[in-house]
Amino acid sequence: MKDKETSRLPGFHRLDAAARRREIERRLGEGGLGAGLSLEQADAMIENAVGVVGIPLGVAANFLVNGEDVLVPMAIEEPSVVAAASNAARMAREGGGFVAGADPAHTAAQIEILDAPAGSAARVAARRSEIERTANGTQPELVGLGGGVVDLEIREAVGRPGRLVMHLVVDCLDAMGANMVNTMAEAVSPLIARAAGGRAGLRILTNLADRRLARASCAVPFEALGRRGFSGERVARAVVSAAEFAADDPYRAATHNKGVFNGIDALLLACGNDWRAVEAGGHAWAARGGRYGSLTAWTIEGEALRGELEMPMAVGVVGGAARANPTARSCMRLAGIETAADLARLAVCAGLATNLAALCALGSEGIQRGHMRLHGRRDR
Ligand code: MEV
Repeated sequence: MKDKETSRLPGFHRLDAAARRREIERRLGEGGLGAGLSLEQADAMIENAVGVVGIPLGVAANFLVNGEDVLVPMAIEEPSVVAAASNAARMAREGGGFVAGADPAHTAAQIEILDAPAGSAARVAARRSEIERTANGTQPELVGLGGGVVDLEIREAVGRPGRLVMHLVVDCLDAMGANMVNTMAEAVSPLIARAAGGRAGLRILTNLADRRLARASCAVPFEALGRRGFSGERVARAVVSAAEFAADDPYRAATHNKGVFNGIDALLLACGNDWRAVEAGGHAWAARGGRYGSLTAWTIEGEALRGELEMPMAVGVVGGAARANPTARSCMRLAGIETAADLARLAVCAGLATNLAALCALGSEGIQRGHMRLHGRRDR
């Protein structure tokens, strides 16, 4: 959406689906949303393809991210999530919208060496430049674009003596990078095993992409939070209390984080990304302190409710389904997503938005009222 039209869509939800689609296609211009994935395209993506499964594609309105209007495509089967995201984005907009950032696309492949004798780590470290050269040699295109190996981390005796774990850290630029780093890891493992004097074990990326974090924050003024029978300040304090509950109790944190992933997964699915990888990384990140906790934090700052979300976000806009699926390409075009960092930033904003909407509802009238109204819509 390069013309930067507003993401405010008043009355959009009252149009019928065909009229909404016309409006989105007008914004997209040539090519529009496209016809969706064909059986032939599906066949080129997975094995034993026999069809494609439809899932509703909606558009969340009102998002303002780093001062820019963004429409958020969301593929999701659950009623109320698209409305919740739009509603939360409208509230956040009152405080200037979301501020978001993303780290460079550094993804690590793990190479496990077993039966490594004492002194292995130093011997492997001494071969560092050869290891980097070999790994980069498998990805000339990536290296030509400025990506490739950025670090080699050696972790000794992980879990048990004799196990050496290497992290080959690669700048994947605009790719999610799983295939690239897995290829690199397999290429360098014989070299590392020889240098270590042990034998190669597993060679695969880690989904705990803690070098590839994305972060979003927002400050929602109290007056934007008020709702039937509840002052904005009361809702804000209820959200803070709910966030504390999630920080204290893993049972609550799991549900709290599910509400975060409602926004993230819906965007990633619309954009043809591996949302399971992001889920795995997010949940592992949520447990990094030794106990599973909340991905978001909510505090009161003056007369506003401040929210923050920071988590691993390994996503891509080149390669895989992000390129193969024409609807995914249209969705990224709609949201103005051109780089992996664009998608990573928007994903954490979407997650913070759906979390905010859920906590506001839970901390005031309860989730069922609005939620059930939308379920009713479906049943009519
Ligand atoms: C439902 O999809 C998500 C919620 O359960 C999230 C939460 O409880 O915070 C409403």
